[in-house]
Amino acid sequence: MSKYKFPYVRMRRNRNSPFIRDLLQENTITVKDLVYPLFIIDGVGKLEPITSMPGQMRYSIDQALIVIEECIDLGILAIALFPVINTAKDNFGSESYNPNGLVQRAVKTIKDKYPQIVIFTDVALDPYTIHGQDGIIDDNRYVLNDVTNEVLVKQALSHAKAGADFVAPSDMMDGRVVKIRRALEEEGFYNTGIMSYSIKYASSFYGPFRDAVHSSGNLKKADKKTYQMNPANINEAYVEAKLDIEESADIIMVKPGIGYLDVVYQMKTTHKIPVAVYHVSGEYSMLKAASQNGWIDYSSCLLETMLCFKRARADIIWTYSALDVARLINQ
Ligand code: PBG
Repeated sequence: MSKYKFPYVRMRRNRNSPFIRDLLQENTITVKDLVYPLFIIDGVGKLEPITSMPGQMRYSIDQALIVIEECIDLGILAIALFPVINTAKDNFGSESYNPNGLVQRAVKTIKDKYPQIVIFTDVALDPYTIHGQDGIIDDNRYVLNDVTNEVLVKQALSHAKAGADFVAPSDMMDGRVVKIRRALEEEGFYNTGIMSYSIKYASSFYGPFRDAVHSSGNLKKADKKTYQMNPANINEAYVEAKLDIEESADIIMVKPGIGYLDVVYQMKTTHKIPVAVYHVSGEYSMLKAASQNGWIDYSSCLLETMLCFKRARADIIWTYSALDVARLINQ
């Protein structure tokens, strides 16, 4: 006979009051867990609402500074920058390593004003290519691995020179972490970290992001399945993570978030290195859309989602809702 016998064991005793529930809560979300990804555009005084991501904007650098100050006031420690490039696109993503490019200028300006904020920069070519792929393509539109790595290295170096704390390769080319690490060391950027998007699935939940950076029109009907992972798979995730750790990634990321909590948990418990999770654009927009229709409550669904990330053992959460989460926590 089990000793766990009703009525001696009543699980509801531990849920009997708000104080008891708080006392026994296993996981919590704090402002220090958050990274705010923001979209930047050229120009001055510009704020462009992103239709498919209600509440999110494309900011010119001066406007981004205002939001960053708000982040700092709320206790958010880190941001991630995503450039929206309108004109300087080509087949090779050459603008990506322009020392005076949009991201490079943004990093410098932000670091001059707020040296304490942790900046992650995206390393991938999709904002810069005419075809919207993350790398350089051949005549069959196949994304070339090793040729792309050469450009990613230049891009990462230009971000490090501008003052980025972490470069964040999101392109899923093989071997790019070690190539970037080697170049950073050679140039003396031994304290610039690498946050690798190690386990990035070919997800349809990136749709609104591609609108935001104007790459969906260029990508047309093409997909990224020859480099991003199949959502059905997890065995590969172990290898992807192991390779990136061996190649010296400082943080690994699992992306998207909500549907991939098993992967977050497995990576954290297996590898015991910092694991970031990306609550991606489509996940954000679903919450917004349903709450705008009055079907769900945005704030409570948002906090619940964040707690689920923590329960799955994520160390860092990238979310467009970072400011909302911070306000809710600080209330
Ligand atoms: C591109 C990149 C993507 C995201 C981050 N970096 C899109 C993609 O791979 O097509 C997605 C982020 C999101 O959906 O919020 N390298």
